[in-house]
Amino acid sequence: MVYLGRSSLLFAGVAAVLIQGSDAHVEFKNDTVKPNTSLNTALVVPHGCSGSDTVGISVTAPTSVDIGIVPQQVQNWTLVVNYKDATNKTVKDFSWTGGYLAHDGRQEFGVVLNIPQVDLTQKPNVTALFPTVQTCLNGTSNWTSDPKSASYNATKGDKPSPQIVITNEEESPSGSSSGSAPHSSSTSGSSSVLMTQGQQSLPLLAAGLAIVAGIYF
Ligand SMILES: *[C@@H]1O[C@H](CO)[C@@H](O)[C@H](O)[C@H]1NC(C)=O
Ligand SMILES: *[C@@H]1O[C@H](CO)[C@@H](O)[C@H](O)[C@H]1NC(C)=O
Ligand SMILES: *[C@@H]1O[C@H](CO)[C@@H](O)[C@H](O)[C@H]1NC(C)=O
Ligand SMILES: *[C@@H]1O[C@H](CO)[C@@H](O)[C@H](O)[C@H]1NC(C)=O
Ligand SMILES: *[C@@H]1O[C@H](CO)[C@@H](O)[C@H](O)[C@H]1NC(C)=O
Ligand SMILES: *[C@@H]1O[C@H](CO)[C@@H](O)[C@H](O)[C@H]1NC(C)=O
Ligand SMILES: *[C@@H]1O[C@H](CO)[C@@H](O)[C@H](O)[C@H]1NC(C)=O
Ligand SMILES: *[C@@H]1O[C@H](CO)[C@@H](O)[C@H](O)[C@H]1NC(C)=O
Repeated sequence: MVYLGRSSLLFAGVAAVLIQGSDAHVEFKNDTVKPNTSLNTALVVPHGCSGSDTVGISVTAPTSVDIGIVPQQVQNWTLVVNYKDATNKTVKDFSWTGGYLAHDGRQEFGVVLNIPQVDLTQKPNVTALFPTVQTCLNGTSNWTSDPKSASYNATKGDKPSPQIVITNEEESPSGSSSGSAPHSSSTSGSSSVLMTQGQQSLPLLAAGLAIVAGIYF
């Protein structure tokens, strides 16, 4: 309470974090990677399905790029991995089930990705989509759409698949980018509007205060 009294900016920051939280996508924690490297990342489930608690996460391997996938065990969840071939070399899909994640909770599901030597001489990057179905006590959230496809319609309820971008270019540091419209994670929703209309420093402030929010909530 003492901390909450310190600055009205704190309220703004925490509010931004909370709004962001209810609006955030299921996505990879680290999603940019160089060819011929290994990436230790995680699928982040930031909230439930429209207020319902999460009981399962099911992921389909990308078809466009042959990425080596090693899903990690997560405490209290049962990991099942299905393969495309009898020798269990190529992952087809995988799921974590049997666990329970409150709708306002956040959970990381670890995945190690072995990125092949993709050819980037003709294009700056290759995007691999990991269509993901989030199963909740009531209903599902289908994070299965390609946000670049012509038919993608967030208003209709389409949700973007988690993606990995393979590129040799350095990731532009989000939050401190100058001018180039912060087109960050969310394509719809009020959080990005709030972020871009607010002060430049709000995303950074919000990021810093996420720790505070973590303590208080
Ligand atoms: C993943 O991201 C975190 C913070 O964004 C960073 O500290 C870490 O080095 C990244 N890991 C890899 C393997 O890129
Ligand atoms: C890929 O990485 C390995 C070691 O990590 C290296 O030995 C190999 O030469 C690399 N391949 C290419 C095509 O760069
Ligand atoms: C796993 O479940 C047990 C029993 O419900 C609980 O005490 C524990 O905190 C859970 N662990 C994690 C990491 O969620
Ligand atoms: C492949 O994995 C399945 C279960 O995912 C297992 O039953 C089977 O024995 C494995 N096969 C090989 C060749 O390891
Ligand atoms: C990937 O390349 C396209 C151009 O082909 C570019 O518009 C896009 O910003 C790049 N994305 C990333 C994450 O580098
Ligand atoms: C389940 O979700 C639907 C749509 O979000 C909602 O209309 C319904 O009331 C919910 N049912 C329960 C039992 O919560
Ligand atoms: C998600 O997709 C499944 C079929 O794959 C469908 O039955 C379900 O209604 C979809 N859920 C939503 C919320 O669109
Ligand atoms: C997107 O979906 C909404 C709601 O279903 C609809 O009103 C709108 O016309 C759609 N937009 C496009 C470009 O199809």
